Amino acid sequence: MRIELDVNGTKHELTVEPRTTLLDCLRDCLDLKGAHAGCEHGVCGACTVLFDGAAVRSCLMFAVQAEGSIITTIEGVTPAPGELSPVQDAFCETHGMQCGYCTPAMILAAHALLADNPQPTREQIVEAISGNICRCTGYTQIVEAIALAAERMRGANRPQA
Ligand code: FES
Ligand code: FES
Repeated sequence: MRIELDVNGTKHELTVEPRTTLLDCLRDCLDLKGAHAGCEHGVCGACTVLFDGAAVRSCLMFAVQAEGSIITTIEGVTPAPGELSPVQDAFCETHGMQCGYCTPAMILAAHALLADNPQPTREQIVEAISGNICRCTGYTQIVEAIALAAERMRGANRPQA
């Protein structure tokens, strides 16, 4: 099937099988390897991408279902080449990653949360990443990273005195 996907601000014309998952399409057709294949049946969250701003599991969707929506992968959250988003920066600073396998998905889940709720409580942060498994169990630093990013993003939005 011919489809057009809007990914990270660029429209791509692609030919895919009806059974091609969005995850496989992103990784194999567009070479966006930041969405990771973990369980591939909706349990681990490693394949998370933003779908019209919401965090979704790309292994549970077909690529054809994404036509007409805006997809953002971890490759699309940086403000400019070589720069980090405030969430990525906070993950580095608080050691919010170990092996890094869950990290792109955790960061995208954080972006979705903070776009919706700039001042989340610790419980709301925990809830927002509750669908994402970190095999290295670095949850404490991940929550700390998201709280730090939230604080900095609120500060950046405050008018200068
Ligand atoms: S790879 Fe999609 S939820 Fe695990
Ligand atoms: S940092 Fe290794 S799986 Fe989360």
